[in-house]
Amino acid sequence: MLEHLDWGKRNRMRHIIREDGRVLMLAIDHGYFMGPTTGMEIPSTSIAPLLPYVDALMLSPGILKTQVSADLSNIAWVLRASGCNSILDEDIDNESLILTALEAIKMNASAIAVSIYVGADHQHQTLKNLAVAIADASQYNLPVLGVTAVGKKLKDKREKRYLALASRIAAEFGADMVKTYYCEGFEEVVAKTPVPIVVAGGPKLDTYKDVLELTYQSIQCGAVGVDMGRNIWQSDYPAAIIQGVRAIIHENYSVKEALDLVESLQTEENRRQPLFAETKEDIEASKIH
Ligand code: 5RP
Repeated sequence: MLEHLDWGKRNRMRHIIREDGRVLMLAIDHGYFMGPTTGMEIPSTSIAPLLPYVDALMLSPGILKTQVSADLSNIAWVLRASGCNSILDEDIDNESLILTALEAIKMNASAIAVSIYVGADHQHQTLKNLAVAIADASQYNLPVLGVTAVGKKLKDKREKRYLALASRIAAEFGADMVKTYYCEGFEEVVAKTPVPIVVAGGPKLDTYKDVLELTYQSIQCGAVGVDMGRNIWQSDYPAAIIQGVRAIIHENYSVKEALDLVESLQTEENRRQPLFAETKEDIEASKIH
């Protein structure tokens, strides 16, 4: 799957998608438009127990520089390169680029991530962001992750026809990986997208079984892994659920085996300690995309 890539790009992709062809990417970039999201108020504290299980972190440049140790050597960074909006806007698709490829290279990023909002008011602008970022990144053999974002208005678009359209457009532009949502018939989205796909977790699901099913089905349908955030770090036992997700991705666990593992890890030590009062407004705000 990576054979056709130039040496530098292939090597960077290999830091993300590991030797078995799979990846567990932890998404913690939500603050770029959501601010201090519940569960990610102090990123360094939230990610500390999770890092041993992570292959790649997807995050914003400012959080990498202030919250992650430069001495960490076994985790890849996928840096968010689009933004310029917030949850206070009617919708969040009015994005521009916030990071150059050169800046990303200086931070030793393995890739940059750019969101596209296909079908939204700012479709053209966000697609242009992706095109510009790919042209910029290709100067350095820096891979680009195309993120098929939905936002408030496109929330009901998590179905295969729409996701295949958005994912395919990202791949046609030259994105090296695509991040999209899982849906019924997801194998069709994967088949029609000629680059590796990682699946977003989306807003917090009701049970750990749901999270593990999502992971399992995504892999069965051909995704190379997940790029999951809230369903890990907003859960009561983040260090437990991440190990279940990892076991499915890298050890081919069944949902039942992974759930048994997660349940066995629900110890006091692994329990998330909320650092601040979690208000209804905060929880609601973190569900908008
Ligand atoms: C925002 C993003 C997030 O990283 C993404 O939504 C993944 O996190 P989650 O699993 O919480 O949905 O790309 O556009």
